[in-house]
Amino acid sequence: MHLLKYTLLAAAASASALAHGHAEPLLKIPAIWQSPLFKSSNHPVGSHSSPAPVKPKLQEAFQIHEPAPILTNTPQICSITLVSRSFANSYGSPSYLSYDPASFAGTSCSYPDEWTGLTLDIHGETRGRQFDRLGTVWVGNNRTGQGVEVMRLDNPEPTRTGVFWDIKKDIGKYWSLFSEKADVVFDLPNIVDDTYTGALNVTLKLSASVDGVMQSRGGKHRRRPVAQSALSLKNRSADVVIPLSKRLRTNNSIFLIGGSAGNGTTPITLPQNAARAIVEIYASGTATEEFWYTGIPDRFYNQIPDASEDGYYGHGTYREVQLYIDGTFAGFVTPYPIIYTGGINPLLWRPSANYGTFDQPTYNVDVTPWLGGLTDGKEHVFELAVVSSEEGGGINDASWFVSGNVQVYLDASGERTTGKVLKVQSGGEDVDGYTEGKLVGDPLTNGSLTYTVGLKRGRSFGVAGSIKTGSGVEYVAGWYQSAEYSNNGFVNATAQTNDQKSYGWTRSFVLGADKVDKVMDAGLSLDELQTLADTQGVGAVQLDYNYPLYAASYLSNTNFDVQVNQQFDRTVRRASHNSQRNDLNQLIGDETTFVHAEPVTALPHATLSRRTGTVDSVLVNGAIANGTGTSDQTFMYRDMAGGTIDRHTRTNTTSVLQDTLGGSASGRAQPAQLAVA
Ligand SMILES: *[C@@H]1O[C@H](CO)[C@@H](O)[C@H](O)[C@H]1NC(C)=O
Ligand SMILES: *[C@@H]1O[C@H](CO)[C@@H](O)[C@H](O)[C@H]1NC(C)=O
Ligand SMILES: *[C@@H]1O[C@H](CO)[C@@H](O)[C@H](O)[C@H]1NC(C)=O
Ligand SMILES: *[C@@H]1O[C@H](CO)[C@@H](O)[C@H](O)[C@H]1NC(C)=O
Ligand SMILES: *[C@@H]1O[C@H](CO)[C@@H](O)[C@H](O)[C@H]1NC(C)=O
Ligand SMILES: *[C@@H]1O[C@H](CO)[C@@H](O)[C@H](O)[C@H]1NC(C)=O
Ligand SMILES: *[C@@H]1O[C@H](CO)[C@@H](O)[C@H](O)[C@H]1NC(C)=O
Ligand SMILES: *[C@@H]1O[C@H](CO)[C@@H](O)[C@H](O)[C@H]1NC(C)=O
Ligand SMILES: *[C@@H]1O[C@H](CO)[C@@H](O)[C@H](O)[C@H]1NC(C)=O
Repeated sequence: MHLLKYTLLAAAASASALAHGHAEPLLKIPAIWQSPLFKSSNHPVGSHSSPAPVKPKLQEAFQIHEPAPILTNTPQICSITLVSRSFANSYGSPSYLSYDPASFAGTSCSYPDEWTGLTLDIHGETRGRQFDRLGTVWVGNNRTGQGVEVMRLDNPEPTRTGVFWDIKKDIGKYWSLFSEKADVVFDLPNIVDDTYTGALNVTLKLSASVDGVMQSRGGKHRRRPVAQSALSLKNRSADVVIPLSKRLRTNNSIFLIGGSAGNGTTPITLPQNAARAIVEIYASGTATEEFWYTGIPDRFYNQIPDASEDGYYGHGTYREVQLYIDGTFAGFVTPYPIIYTGGINPLLWRPSANYGTFDQPTYNVDVTPWLGGLTDGKEHVFELAVVSSEEGGGINDASWFVSGNVQVYLDASGERTTGKVLKVQSGGEDVDGYTEGKLVGDPLTNGSLTYTVGLKRGRSFGVAGSIKTGSGVEYVAGWYQSAEYSNNGFVNATAQTNDQKSYGWTRSFVLGADKVDKVMDAGLSLDELQTLADTQGVGAVQLDYNYPLYAASYLSNTNFDVQVNQQFDRTVRRASHNSQRNDLNQLIGDETTFVHAEPVTALPHATLSRRTGTVDSVLVNGAIANGTGTSDQTFMYRDMAGGTIDRHTRTNTTSVLQDTLGGSASGRAQPAQLAVA
């Protein structure tokens, strides 16, 4: 075996890279299923003459997740099945159906107006050999638009004996779509043949609940939390959800973005009485961008012969998704790196997938400051782009999967909202990045490349606009955000490491017109904003995020060892001049930008997942023959009602070794307490 032919990314790609593109997978996948570790019986691999085994017990594959529904305890739950299908050769043939809330007739949840909770529930089973696949769920109607993405998911890779998984997602924010007749699409493209034998047997359910109860944290002097009945989703959720997608009724509406594929563009007309609007973005790199955080800066990439043949990709490591409204930059999001269950080394993710794998996180940009100009009843163009920090912002061709929606809250008057943009930070679209590094010889033979990709200054953007609703409420709405980024990379023929730091904050605020310069120019901390809140009626909600990632792979003739440490950290805080008021019942889901003129703002909440994973695996003929992965994950969660989950989980490839689960909301933990070996 010629060692140098086995570049690390090729090994990683063989496990999964092409599984997410639209092309069929061509690279070989690890022959891990041939390992004695994965044998369910003594029958030789691939023997077709062996008698059918007794249906084996499937192992649970899981992802630690926040409770769903978020916030409410739900005594009365009603479920309907939307799709139940064995996804085998399902490329280009999604499931689509007509949904009618009348399906809940005869249950306790007959009336959507009474629902206090809403979730999408996935149950899947798979056995054999298969990649992980990227699935999506879409909902829409002919009036407000088809093709609103409401969930993006990955499956665990199967084993010979089979695995199952369950994940529930809170979709209360999409209540308006599910409260009436809708067209639903569930796309889970899979291929089954003699080699890739695992069908994905998946059931997708919609669960509504009524009579939900929220545990309010109560006043300072109250010892115990107080239960209050939850307001209906109708009262809490956005009134209209408008798709930013291809808007198809019977197919996947995803925008494939990058290079020749261009950007994702949607012309939309907003209701004239829109009083507040948030753009939510779904975004993940796939195919040649699946491992975007390992990209080699262009100036080095262009000097490495055979880089692309050996499975390396260029355009550096920085990616951001940008939002433009009528060609004007309106905000950006820096994505959390999603690592699928086939990513880098599949043994990293068994049986414990990383946070964000079975239900990908999304990102918000508050576009309320622009509303005065968007409520004219005319069409406005919303565009989503993905850029790098390289010259020209280029990324690899057609390999980001992106979609979005606009969640609109209406003013009760029905009259037009007016106002204008008062201040916008110019040049927000320019990513001022740099690359440094040293290339010695050819890193694909006996040389090496050491590099850093970063942002020269913290990246920031801000906009403030006046709003006057038909009901006469007048205020200034602001959106302000800041991001820091760096990635130290190393590549040679047998090792690759990337140490990525990506963190920042986003802030929605409400204030009087005379405070705009003061609040936007001063680079105020949230504590300083609180002082203004107390004295001058400013309100703000801030999301702090931090997504560090360390990934290291080491290859030899006989071994492929990996370490991946990753964190997902989001904390929402607020500065409010009405901080005594408990607005819990006005809140929805994982809201991060909730600021009303009223003022109703999000209550503090936080999600922190910190996971380390290692694999030592043995290679035979360049494929993984056997090995052991370990994971160690802490999960800390605090919801807006003060409910907490505090969890520590350890696994190896075959077993759950520890699951310490505590906190006042542990009864709603997802998954529930795991059985420990
Ligand atoms: C969905 O789109 C794919 C790719 O464009 C196409 O091949 C397929 O026929 C479409 N399926 C349906 C049901 O429209
Ligand atoms: C999935 O469904 C197919 C078709 O019904 C069946 O043959 C297979 O055994 C199922 N797989 C699992 C893991 O249940
Ligand atoms: C949208 O229009 C199509 C074509 O007329 C129709 O089949 C579908 O049922 C409509 N969707 C809804 C939710 O009414
Ligand atoms: C909830 O919505 C209903 C209308 O569906 C309205 O009558 C009621 O006042 C609302 N309640 C609150 C607390 O906003
Ligand atoms: C996509 O958006 C980027 C960023 O604004 C821009 O540079 C590029 O020209 C756009 N591409 C197309 C095809 O419109
Ligand atoms: C790599 O190998 C070549 C050919 O044997 C040799 O000339 C060169 O000095 C080596 N480079 C390094 C960095 O070791
Ligand atoms: C690649 O780098 C690693 C870590 O520094 C080192 O152990 C290994 O020997 C290097 N491999 C080659 C082929 O230079
Ligand atoms: C892993 O595979 C290697 C090569 O086939 C073999 O020598 C070794 O015993 C295997 N280890 C285990 C734990 O099965
Ligand atoms: C995982 O740990 C369990 C319990 O200690 C042990 O029995 C099992 O052999 C371990 N599996 C691997 C692959 O190391």
